[in-house]
Amino acid sequence: MTRLDLIVAAALVCATAPGIARAQAPATLNLMPVPSSVALRNGSINIDSTFRVAVVHGDDARLMDAVERMIPRLEYRTGIAMSHVIAHDSSGATLVIDCDGPGEPVQGIDEDESYTLTGGNGSLTLHAATTVGVIRGLETVLQLVDGDAQHYFIPNVSITDTPRFKWRGLLVDVSRHFEPVSEIERTLDGMSAVKLNVLHWHLSDDQGIRVESKRYPKLQGVGSDSLFYTQAQIREVVAYARDRGIRVVPEFDMPGHSSAWFVGYPQYASGPGPYAIGRRWTGYAGVFDPTRETVYKFIDRFIGEMSALFPDAYWHIGGDEVNATQWKQSARIQKFMTAHHLADHAALQAYFNQRLSRILTKHHKHMIGWDEILHPDLPRTTVVQSWRGTQYLGQAVSQGFSGILSTPYYLDAMKSSEQMYLADPLAGDSTLTPDQVARVLGGEACMWSELIAPESIESRIWPRLAAIAERFWSPRSVSDVGDMYRRLAIQDVRLEQLGLGQESHTDRFLRRIMNGPDVAPLADLLAFAEPVTLGQRVHGGPTTQMTPLVQVVDAAQPDPPNRWRIQQLVADVIASPRTNVAAHDTLAKWFSDWRDLAPRVHDAGNRSPLAQGAIPAADALARVGTIGLAALEARKSGMPLSQAWADSAKVILTAADKPQGLLHLVVVPAVRPLLMQ
Ligand code: ACM
Repeated sequence: MTRLDLIVAAALVCATAPGIARAQAPATLNLMPVPSSVALRNGSINIDSTFRVAVVHGDDARLMDAVERMIPRLEYRTGIAMSHVIAHDSSGATLVIDCDGPGEPVQGIDEDESYTLTGGNGSLTLHAATTVGVIRGLETVLQLVDGDAQHYFIPNVSITDTPRFKWRGLLVDVSRHFEPVSEIERTLDGMSAVKLNVLHWHLSDDQGIRVESKRYPKLQGVGSDSLFYTQAQIREVVAYARDRGIRVVPEFDMPGHSSAWFVGYPQYASGPGPYAIGRRWTGYAGVFDPTRETVYKFIDRFIGEMSALFPDAYWHIGGDEVNATQWKQSARIQKFMTAHHLADHAALQAYFNQRLSRILTKHHKHMIGWDEILHPDLPRTTVVQSWRGTQYLGQAVSQGFSGILSTPYYLDAMKSSEQMYLADPLAGDSTLTPDQVARVLGGEACMWSELIAPESIESRIWPRLAAIAERFWSPRSVSDVGDMYRRLAIQDVRLEQLGLGQESHTDRFLRRIMNGPDVAPLADLLAFAEPVTLGQRVHGGPTTQMTPLVQVVDAAQPDPPNRWRIQQLVADVIASPRTNVAAHDTLAKWFSDWRDLAPRVHDAGNRSPLAQGAIPAADALARVGTIGLAALEARKSGMPLSQAWADSAKVILTAADKPQGLLHLVVVPAVRPLLMQ
């Protein structure tokens, strides 16, 4: 450690140490994300038909709407009809809301989202500086509702809560596959429930432009397959998000990932075209021509038009993965580079970005882009979004830029909630200086849509995003994975109550695959299997924008809860196979079920070509089950397995941990320790 590292480490300990004991929610609470400070006191507040809300200060329209949305949710949670009349006088009120003011007319990155909750004497007081703080606090109030045999109640708590990071986002790609407004709004409901505050809307890519431009109508006219948001719909989504304390940052990716712009406007590309909407996922050469003044005029007018729809102070220019083929092939562009002393294509992109940055400044926008945009000549108000590696976040903040981290939070990489939960935008051993630390604004999960459609997006985002949201909101010290999974299962149910379909997803897909209700064999398999990653699936066979995403892999969900559960069962059995009888018996039952599942899945495959996609995983799971049973028996009897048997079992497990068709068995690593005697 350098001296500076020690100072930073000491500062972080000082900053977090008083919170460590307080930061973990008392085990009886099911809050997610865990607040910065929670104290549980004796007693509770009954929730019954006399429940009343009073807003004693700060009754702006947005706050009142938030309360009006909250009361029916409480009614549906408890089955009790309640008054929808919101009082202004605290006497007799169960929930008293005291808000200092509405906050910024356009929510900014420094919006105060903090709130306090204080319960006692039969009522709960929610205090916040801004409406957004109240919106955050109301979600906590709903999460506090508990029940016993007689009553629903809210325990008497004292909560002081403030987010750790100011930028806590989700990217939704609507270019590769379009998502209707209703889906975006449901996603916003879920985001608000877990206190996320940025929707990064990836609105253009090679595969489609998804906004209506009145100035350049051929953008959506020939670049979208008629799947785009009207300007009225964009206004609706932005307002819907604002009502939930969420900023909307649009992304219009350029100069690469931009073929769809040139279907209608080929004159702004670096090569002659013609261009078509991309149906595949990679390999497009269409790139804006940074040497033409007409390009900057076009972009200026487009941003001018769109700025009226997207009030956020930030504008995402993309800037990733620029394919320089057209730049290389154009003698004119090469000549321009020589004349402007631009040594390579990265320098040409930097030139383009600087021009873009000036246009954005004119429209009162700060620039944000993927980590390829990092360049010393950009204004330090630029935000760099790290996707290729965590090191780019460090590079950005050490050069004076602000940064957000996305590298560990790609939802299509199929990492478990645990892995993403433990990936911290600012790890405890970070070597950044305090100034640099302050420039780490937060993080964003990314939901790229090559392999998701409106029917599957919810299953890919949720519930894992709730674990990521806690990482972005709660103190770093909140890191107990077991408790996270315990609360995630509860949060998952709350998200369902908002209309999100991640838990009904598998059954819905399997009923279609089986053309009827007999889904048990495939459902039993998917309790232990997840989709392969985007990269593995793309290698596993061609998919295009036209491929119906209705296979067994589309029915599967990432990180099924049994992945975590089997680790605990195996740990219990290894700790004491004789005393942990329940764990032993559950495991033995699972293993024998796995062994017996394969013929059932084969039978399903005989009735549905789509169900055939499950067979490789079912066969591999049967082999794992057979090994597990033998290993368990050996532990119980105390008769060690032969080395030769253990060696061959390990080979089989290693093979079973690889993709089986388009599925990945999530339980194999947990079985391996059973082989060690
Ligand atoms: C990216 O994933 N190309 C930003």
